[in-house]
Amino acid sequence: VWQWWRWMREHDPVSWDEKYGAWHVFRYADIVRVLADPLTFSSDLVGLLPPQPEIELFSKGNFVRMDPPRHDKLRKLVSKAFTPRVVADLEPRITEVTDELLDAVTGEPGFDLVAALAYPLPVTVIAELLGVPASDRGLFRTWADALLNQPLPDRMLPDEETLRLRAAPLHDMIGYLLTHIRDRRAAPRDDLTSQLIDAEVDGERLVDDEIVGFVGLLLIAGHITTTTLLTNTVLCLDTHPDAARDLRADLSLVPTALEEVLRDRAPFPRLARVATAASAVGERTVPAGQVINLWIGSANHDEREFLDPDDFDIRRSPNPHLSFGHGIHFCLGAPLARLEAAIAVPMLLRRCPDLAVADGVELFDARVMAGARRLPVAALWA
Ligand code: HEM
Repeated sequence: VWQWWRWMREHDPVSWDEKYGAWHVFRYADIVRVLADPLTFSSDLVGLLPPQPEIELFSKGNFVRMDPPRHDKLRKLVSKAFTPRVVADLEPRITEVTDELLDAVTGEPGFDLVAALAYPLPVTVIAELLGVPASDRGLFRTWADALLNQPLPDRMLPDEETLRLRAAPLHDMIGYLLTHIRDRRAAPRDDLTSQLIDAEVDGERLVDDEIVGFVGLLLIAGHITTTTLLTNTVLCLDTHPDAARDLRADLSLVPTALEEVLRDRAPFPRLARVATAASAVGERTVPAGQVINLWIGSANHDEREFLDPDDFDIRRSPNPHLSFGHGIHFCLGAPLARLEAAIAVPMLLRRCPDLAVADGVELFDARVMAGARRLPVAALWA
């Protein structure tokens, strides 16, 4: 995919894909301009799909697919819970969960890093914040895979049949979350779900149908992406032994190293918007109503923005990568994802003075998600 991106950045940076039925944008500056203008380039793609009850219901609270002013009002309801200061209070719990997970595999010469740490850590943290049992994480993973990690379809906008197939796991998730929300209505607890039940927008409480998409978004966005950040860190260090040695020698480099992993392998390499009016993007004009794929994975390697973009430099600074997006939809959970990785990575490196990627790695489709479904490692324990 990197070669395709490089070629397109150079030769066809804003291109119409007739077969796929959408535009592709590859350069950093063009992508930032689109993301910075949410009124011209809308996030609301749901209206373009054939009607589908589950998707319509889920959309009522799924604010990543909303535009201002509704987006801003819903995001504000939870934004306080995810500021770096508030998230910092989770540090002891994140450390404790990481310790328990690593204890469970300590001494094993080989294990799957996804199953042992990269998946259960973020899912446990977000489940506890929302007040759903972390032990149901097998279910959450099925839903996350169904929603985020499908093979790239032949057409940008799926047909009715594809949507129907996708709706089955969504149906289960909606049912599960509605039960959870009703439980909390009956007996509130100190969690984000109870907080949302109490919250008001324009003087009105949210109804259960709105809370479903809201909690679902946090649950899904809140774990699978951080899982890939953790696996990508291990993959990057494995392919760059010099960087791994430098990082082990000076763990204060972990924060910049994580930003470099995020830049190098954007967990979500592609965002999508729809033009609300005919608009210039780069040297082309996108007609109203057409969908635009923004390849942030390509932007992160744009030689017009980054010096030696294909070098993996754990000291790179500044590092204005787009892996958390840009503008009003900038990832709400970025402080949490950064904190989880900044705690887990040094703990893993300290406990395993030697860690090597072993045979049997299963990677996702790099056009959909950069990361590993299975990451067997060979470990030497301290
Ligand atoms: C939005 C990436 C972790 C919650 C986004 C967007 C990206 C992104 C690219 C923008 C989508 C768009 O503009 O269309 C990532 C990556 C993560 C991560 C790479 C981990 C490495 C998390 C976590 C949470 C979270 C841990 C947990 C709360 C959200 C939410 C939005 C969002 C709620 C929607 C924000 C809005 O529309 O205003 N994320 N995310 N993310 N992310 Fe994350």
